[in-house]
Amino acid sequence: MAVNAVPSAVPSAVPSAVPSAAPSAVPSTVPSAAPSAAVNALREALGAQVVALPDEFVDRRVEDWSGLPSAVPLALIRPHDTREVAVALEICARYAQPVVTQGGLTGLVGGANLRGDEVALSLDRMNQIVEIDAVSGTMTVQAGTPLQVVQEAASAAGFYFPLDLGARGSCSIGGNLATNAGGNRVIKYGMMRDQVLGIEAVLASGAIVGGLNKMIKDNSGYDLRNLLIGSEGTLAVITRAVLRLRPKPTATATAWCGLPSFDAVTTLLRRAQAGLAPGVSAFEVMWAGYHDTVLANLNTLRAPLASPHPFYVLLESVGTDPVRHGGAFEEFLGAMLEEGVVTDAALASNEAHAQAFWAIRDAPGEYQRFIPNHAAYDVSFSIAQVGDAASRCEAQLHARWPEATIMIYGHLGDGNIHIVVDVPGLPKHDHDAIDQVIYDVTRDFRGSISAEHGIGIKKKHFLHLTRSEADVASMRAIKQALDPARILNPGKIF
Ligand code: FAD
Ligand code: LAC
Ligand code: ZN
Repeated sequence: MAVNAVPSAVPSAVPSAVPSAAPSAVPSTVPSAAPSAAVNALREALGAQVVALPDEFVDRRVEDWSGLPSAVPLALIRPHDTREVAVALEICARYAQPVVTQGGLTGLVGGANLRGDEVALSLDRMNQIVEIDAVSGTMTVQAGTPLQVVQEAASAAGFYFPLDLGARGSCSIGGNLATNAGGNRVIKYGMMRDQVLGIEAVLASGAIVGGLNKMIKDNSGYDLRNLLIGSEGTLAVITRAVLRLRPKPTATATAWCGLPSFDAVTTLLRRAQAGLAPGVSAFEVMWAGYHDTVLANLNTLRAPLASPHPFYVLLESVGTDPVRHGGAFEEFLGAMLEEGVVTDAALASNEAHAQAFWAIRDAPGEYQRFIPNHAAYDVSFSIAQVGDAASRCEAQLHARWPEATIMIYGHLGDGNIHIVVDVPGLPKHDHDAIDQVIYDVTRDFRGSISAEHGIGIKKKHFLHLTRSEADVASMRAIKQALDPARILNPGKIF
């Protein structure tokens, strides 16, 4: 059976960076008192060019994308290198001065936001690619380097850096590590944890740990690298990293599929993983509610298929031989159409078509424009249970708020869905009742309240729903050992 070609009017490509204005947070509190002894000591040691006072960074955004409240920092530290980070933290430790580390500020859980008594330490000046080692297949970068810069540099050097997410143009490698970011290609390449060989970081004491390790194997004692990944700025400031580069795929096939049921979606996943060698590189599912809402609200997007379907999947597979890979992909899709697993499909015949499909999937970067007060969730379940968990959430939300817009989509290959709920008239900071519905269902299905975005401040009151008391006690013990004065990102996670 033939597969549809993509419509000729191709929507504009995916924006490379999220819009510069993050969702507006609750008005910031501006510190008015004279600089504290800690801030004076920081300024004396590092200079006014590195340590700025609030009236010197008035126009700067200091909060992340969560829309949660944030204060203005007592000072903004913008070091150039690891040594300056170490000097700053040693002084902060001496004065018990709390510090919030900030990367690209695209986080979605308030992890980089401030309470009011902290200084902010931004890695934005530490944005250099230090080295590409083509023999070892590594790239060494400073932690403030934006993800997209890394992706492009890897490609220019004939390699591939697989981590990819909608905020690619703005988020930093340090933030990706601190949140163990996931995104669109986890199904084949793993999360950020799997893309790194070495991490250099500065502890709360000012001590520098880890290093620029390029070895794949290293079992010499506790793995500090993996402890710091996903620690959301609470255990150390990540300063540099050695990233693992992959061979560049020389053939990519992409299709947009319409499917009749969730069972058909999981069948397609299983069959694609078994039948598409060397592998499925993305399997992004979108419930009809997501598809219809983003297409209705963003006029740059075009529906790839002529008629509506209950589910859509963006399927991507990578290989080495464009002709053979493209042929095998088309044949596979034809078989899925023949068997009724897929009802209709559009195959991207060039890069622009594929980008047009991805633009639909990347629409969350535009939510601010049409649903500024939405509530957003990032939950995961076993793949088998995603459909039932999503249906239960949807049914309970609709029973309580019949007029709500509900959008469900995500990285099904990882069991990770995002649920976005917009209840007309319900303000941004009044989501407790929606939280309760989603997180109760997540607990009942033994899922996770955070598949990829982290806990930050947004979810800390729900951590106990999916982590045991003993788990949380162990986390606290680690925090106590590495940061006894609790100066690093206080009030986050726990
Ligand atoms: P920030 O927001 O600046 O900080 C995030 C956390 O990391 C904070 O706790 C901060 O203190 C800490 N931190 C930052 N840098 C360092 C450092 N050098 N050392 C120690 N701690 C540090 N996330 C996904 O996982 N998957 C997605 O698909 C995805 N899609 C997104 C799409 C959009 C449109 C947006 C806006 C966000 C998306 N995100 C996604 C969330 C976000 O982009 C990621 O969490 C990203 O990894 C954050 O990086 P950042 O540099 O912006 O970090
Ligand atoms: C996404 C973000 C929200 O997958 O994680 O679009
Ligand atoms: Zn995601």
